[in-house]
Amino acid sequence: MSEIHVVSKDNRQLYQNYFDPYFRLRHDIYVKQRKWMALDRPDGREIDQFDTDEAVYLFCIDEGRLIGGMRAVPTTMPTLMSEIFPHLNIRGPIHRPDVYELSRIFVIPERRGEHAGPRIDLLLLTAIMEYGISIGLTGFSIVLESWWLPRFERCGWRAHPLGVPQMIDGMSVLAVLVDCDDATWVSLCDQIGLHGPTLTWRGLASVSRRALPALSIPPQRTVRPGRSTLADAGDRAT
Ligand code: COA
Repeated sequence: MSEIHVVSKDNRQLYQNYFDPYFRLRHDIYVKQRKWMALDRPDGREIDQFDTDEAVYLFCIDEGRLIGGMRAVPTTMPTLMSEIFPHLNIRGPIHRPDVYELSRIFVIPERRGEHAGPRIDLLLLTAIMEYGISIGLTGFSIVLESWWLPRFERCGWRAHPLGVPQMIDGMSVLAVLVDCDDATWVSLCDQIGLHGPTLTWRGLASVSRRALPALSIPPQRTVRPGRSTLADAGDRAT
């Protein structure tokens, strides 16, 4: 059973054993496999200037093993978009408490794709939406390769381009702002068969957040992104 854990500076000590494998996995995936050589470090860990105390991580853990992850950085802090790719965002810098920047989404190779069991990539996209609406975010800024756009479209993530795609190191890359809202979360839960919140907030009792309700989604119902709300699906918990 794969669980998605929220990890921040407030509970990092509970996940100390996962951080070294996490940064090594990032090195394997981004440097060795994807050949993003600018991220290479001699110690075999991929860590950058955005891995600060303010970064929040989603760790996907299955029977004690880290099998996927994602990073969220408040846009009130320096981000990839503000520091490295500002030219991709022609609408001007985003520094908003209600928007976090997402980066470093990955799934280990043997758990990717349809044949690998429950879709961990979709679970991560669902979980980060849950995280966002729980803490009151309205959007996620992302610098991404354009092949993500049809994937987002298919799963109901609404991504608004902030500029035109540009070729960077042989990749077509653009900046987007994705809506973070209840409807997208409900729709994603429906798609992957979740009946309510999935995040584990171990050691984060002091974090101010909205408790999300269980969802009552009929098995065959298709929820159209943008039309369903939590008010359809269950009581709003605060
Ligand atoms: N370039 C272009 N398309 C890609 C791609 C890449 N580097 N990686 C994934 N895709 C697209 C393709 O359409 C692919 O379909 P294909 O198998 O017909 O080529 C589809 O996504 C499925 O990807 P797959 O890797 O089989 O599994 P997934 O959907 O379970 O996982 C990721 C998707 C992105 C989580 C996974 O590929 C991964 O961890 N990649 C390495 C980390 C990474 O590049 N993250 C994105 C930047 S932060």
